[in-house]
Amino acid sequence: MTEQVARPVKIRTIGRRTDRADGVEKVTGRATYAVEHGVDDGVVDPLHLWLVQSTVAKGRVSAVRAEAALSHPGVVAVIDHTNAPRLHDTDNRELAILQDDRVGFRGQIVALVLAETLEAARQGAALVEVDQEVDPHEVELTEHNATYRPETVNPDMDTDTDEGDVDAAFAQADVVVDHTYRTPYEHNNPLEAHATTAWWESDGGDERLTMFDSTQGVHGVAQSLAPMLGLAPGQIRVRAPYVGGGFGSKGEAHAHVMAAVLAARTTEGRPVKLAVTRQQMFALTGYRTATISHIRLGASADGRLDAIEHIVQEQTSTIREFAEQTASPTRMMYAAPNRRTRHRLARLDVAVPSWMRAPGEMPGMFAQEVAMDELAVSCGVDPILLRELNEPDTDPETGLPFNNRRLVDCLRHGAERFGWAARNREPRATRDGEWWVGTGVASATYPANRMPGNAARVRSLGDGRYAVAIASVDIGTGARTVLSQIAADALDVEPSAIDLEVADTRLPAATVAGGSSGTSSWGTAIVAAAQRFRKDHGDSAEPGLETTATPADDPAEERLSFHSFGAVFAEARVNHWTGEIRVPRLFGVYSVGRVINPMTARSQFLGGLVMGLSAGLFEDSYRDPRLGHVVTQDLATYHVAAHADVLDVDAEWLEESDDTFTPMGSRGIGEIGIVGTAAAVANATFHATGTRVRSLPITVDDFSGADGI
Ligand code: MOS
Repeated sequence: MTEQVARPVKIRTIGRRTDRADGVEKVTGRATYAVEHGVDDGVVDPLHLWLVQSTVAKGRVSAVRAEAALSHPGVVAVIDHTNAPRLHDTDNRELAILQDDRVGFRGQIVALVLAETLEAARQGAALVEVDQEVDPHEVELTEHNATYRPETVNPDMDTDTDEGDVDAAFAQADVVVDHTYRTPYEHNNPLEAHATTAWWESDGGDERLTMFDSTQGVHGVAQSLAPMLGLAPGQIRVRAPYVGGGFGSKGEAHAHVMAAVLAARTTEGRPVKLAVTRQQMFALTGYRTATISHIRLGASADGRLDAIEHIVQEQTSTIREFAEQTASPTRMMYAAPNRRTRHRLARLDVAVPSWMRAPGEMPGMFAQEVAMDELAVSCGVDPILLRELNEPDTDPETGLPFNNRRLVDCLRHGAERFGWAARNREPRATRDGEWWVGTGVASATYPANRMPGNAARVRSLGDGRYAVAIASVDIGTGARTVLSQIAADALDVEPSAIDLEVADTRLPAATVAGGSSGTSSWGTAIVAAAQRFRKDHGDSAEPGLETTATPADDPAEERLSFHSFGAVFAEARVNHWTGEIRVPRLFGVYSVGRVINPMTARSQFLGGLVMGLSAGLFEDSYRDPRLGHVVTQDLATYHVAAHADVLDVDAEWLEESDDTFTPMGSRGIGEIGIVGTAAAVANATFHATGTRVRSLPITVDDFSGADGI
């Protein structure tokens, strides 16, 4: 493997609106998802798997009675902790299923049913009787749980930070905002539910496991499963040619993946297909923890912040720790010499939390940006001016200069496009018939992430064509399309001359489609490989020349702070009689470096804004307080914003190029659209009604009153 410094690319097709490379496959139904592969892909005579889940929150499985299931026609096997294949490593208790009799949350996998048909597997699962002993459990997150301080928060950030003398600063502040903000449990609901097809082969004693998995990262799946199975990662092949969304829920393997792999171990080579149901996803494929944020802002009378405090309480599971980094954006967003952040976790007997679009930034910026709106009201300062007043000279967390901090440009440009100047300063001042009308603003931010551990291969095919290969997964974002554009510019050919191969662990390594890092990480690897190819082979395109390269480390991150920024504007209308909330306008402006494909980028921003609106008004994984499982476990009761909820939503971005961050000039765009959006909506409902809501989702109940709100 060659290491190559990736230099800025000559821009030709980057920035050009380019149709989706896989658009036709998708709309014609020819794109093959994880459980749709057949004999052409080596999936011959598969068995179907259904999951049996615990019905207690904590306890032990005392017996799994399989007789009725096994006598059902088509059922082949029932696997439980007494007969499941043994794992080599069980530290990750989310993945180490069926290794002992312990139950750690309601909905945990306690048995598997294999059958000749999907229907028989499902019926068989209904016939399995599981006896469980019940232990005392704790499943509710309140302000009174016992909590602990995790060593780090996601992915490896400090749990606590302290600068200056926070308490003294609050004692001297002219204005103090001191409130508690809450966000609920939320579940990712990608269109394609999680699914895995897996089979084992033995080749002269050499075990091989092959999978089609609906994942955001094929290498990550192989790397997490291999040690547990006693394999080297190279013995596992994972492919994910098409994935119907993930939002973080497919960022790492969850228990169902191990279920398919363990079941396949018992079938003498027959493939096993597992399609997780929408309902099962609410227990098994991760979710965003609820958060309780105590925020204090201390400022001078004119709105200059002197102290910021953000103390977070949230929860994790007993099975496995996940610590949402909710206070992380509070550390870098605004200037203030005195600052304190804390994260504390309650360890509850509940399903395992994980990544959901903008973990940390989404709940943290809801809290901080509503608090900033409260400070603006307290000081009588326009909310945009307040943010300008508190612009830091350098990154308050690291002290490093910001590479390209254009928050103020986003706010000003957005204000102009949104018509902010015409806004009435007073809340509850505009009524249109039976609707109170208001507008709100919030800032957005997301770190620019570029991951080490990527490589790409360029091979000349002759006739001016090139095969470019990297294991990255396109989860629906348009990665295939933009990587083809990047490869084309790096090789100085048209995108149509690129045959791009992705999403297979046999290809050069790629990191996860997560942390808004995909295009930056994979694109930089492709540029490195293309530039190395040209260095080694010049303009020669004789067929069969090949170069694999990995980008050299870039020291820029040690001297600069890389973040993207944005500003979100919302108009809210709240019905005087019913409290019904509508958001007729939602508008975001972003500074994200160079946009590689305006069409796919716009979809990312709009998708993020819609997901933020959805978090603002609807999404709430409502738990049964007795057992901690989610009762709103379908799309009828867990409402995600639908067409009727989304009115005028639009996004723009600043023309710019961040050549310090990537050779394409781009940063990352997948997550910033959800950040701050719920706060903008909340701030707009305050401006409309004069009622401050500090808890998501905002619902009619927040504006109650028999005589109108
Ligand atoms: Mo995203 S939550 O980093 O997959």
